[in-house]
Amino acid sequence: MQLGIENISFATTEYVLPLTTLAEATGVEVGKFHVGIGQEHMSVPAPDEDIVTMAATAAQPILEGQDLSAIRTVLFATESGIDQSKAAGVYVHHLLGLDPRCRVVELKQACYSATAALQMAVALVARRPEQKVLVIASDVARYDRDSSGEPTQGAGAVAMLVSSNPAVLAIEAESGLHTADVMDFWRPNYRSTALVDGKYSVSVYMDALRSAWDDYRDQGGHALADFDRFCYHQPFTRLAVKAHRTLAKHSGELTAEQADEQIANTLDYNRQIGNTYTASVYIGLLSLLENAEEDLSGSRVGFFSYGSGSVAELFAGVVQPGYREMLRTTRHREQIQRRREIDHPTYVRLHAHPDGLVGGDHEFAQETTGPFRLAAIRGHKRVYETVAQFSAPADASGVEASAGDATTAVTTDTATTSL
Ligand code: CAA
Repeated sequence: MQLGIENISFATTEYVLPLTTLAEATGVEVGKFHVGIGQEHMSVPAPDEDIVTMAATAAQPILEGQDLSAIRTVLFATESGIDQSKAAGVYVHHLLGLDPRCRVVELKQACYSATAALQMAVALVARRPEQKVLVIASDVARYDRDSSGEPTQGAGAVAMLVSSNPAVLAIEAESGLHTADVMDFWRPNYRSTALVDGKYSVSVYMDALRSAWDDYRDQGGHALADFDRFCYHQPFTRLAVKAHRTLAKHSGELTAEQADEQIANTLDYNRQIGNTYTASVYIGLLSLLENAEEDLSGSRVGFFSYGSGSVAELFAGVVQPGYREMLRTTRHREQIQRRREIDHPTYVRLHAHPDGLVGGDHEFAQETTGPFRLAAIRGHKRVYETVAQFSAPADASGVEASAGDATTAVTTDTATTSL
């Protein structure tokens, strides 16, 4: 029996900040952002967007035509939770009209927890193959302004339907694991922005990669030369390039050029969206599947998932024949291209936004053009609204038409990015 990802989709935000704008405002040579860290834009949420609205927007299309009673578990992975007690997935469960006979939990371990969720989902489906698990990873990456992490912010969500009909990617059983108690990136409960020891975080990321790889091989995993492609957790895309060259050298199997070929196309979306913490490695997978020109059917794809603090996992999946029929390439590209460009003063205002919301009642004007919005916080309760219902065409690959259906209530401005 094969187990893995039957369907996958992502969502990002209403606004986008070009890193040229950030560079001009902060007096940094833009080459540092475009070349040195490999980022061009960062997604910025509107005040009425958060991890719940992005998660519901990502998940909605993959539920079209599904027997919702088969989805008996929702696993919501995030670093940027909105409540210390209630799982954000419960709001999403409601917005998507899922069956009440369902368990919903939130998982946390920095950027790694989506991979824990995926592996737990596979285990649940192995036990009851007729059931499906909805795995969602959704995050807003926020650092202090004028900190080293500022140009590596971003926001986005990925939703994956895990089942015994893995029409996109069958996940293999071998897994390499690594845990080490380090303080490279963390966020105490009283902060809305992460703290990071940037250079140290890169160093322990590489340590975790080598260690997880060695464990993967000890567990009977494939040699590096047996992989066709590799997806990394990408806080910034340049890190993935460096990481795969590090792994190539560590394994002694590939040249730097061969390593670069293995990660081709996995960086395209992240370069435009920025860091999405838990979602990042799976947005990398979508970037590969949707931007590679060749047919990847049968290709073995490696995954390195890293969550600061730290926990890491390295595993593999095989792309399934017919996977292209499951993709929403036009919809995803449109989500990136239709974001509205903001200037630096607007970014500064939006960056300060959540910190001013401690206590009190807040009503939010409609800014998002997405299908779900955070309408208010009243009596310490978050109030979400469905703006437009989703209606997908029969052919999932033509989802661009339905994306318009879901969002035409409000007109968007000009496209600002290109892939
Ligand atoms: N043109 C081209 N390249 C330039 C340049 C220019 N004009 N100016 C500088 N550069 C290059 C530098 O030479 C450097 O290249 P190398 O890394 O190859 O040496 C690169 O740009 C970055 O420059 P700095 O090292 O001076 O940058 P920095 O110290 O200001 O920031 C960083 C780098 C520490 C990684 C910072 O981006 C950061 O703190 N990021 C957040 C932490 C992070 O993402 N860590 C990753 C591992 S942890 C993780 O994965 C979890 C997570 O999601 C956070």
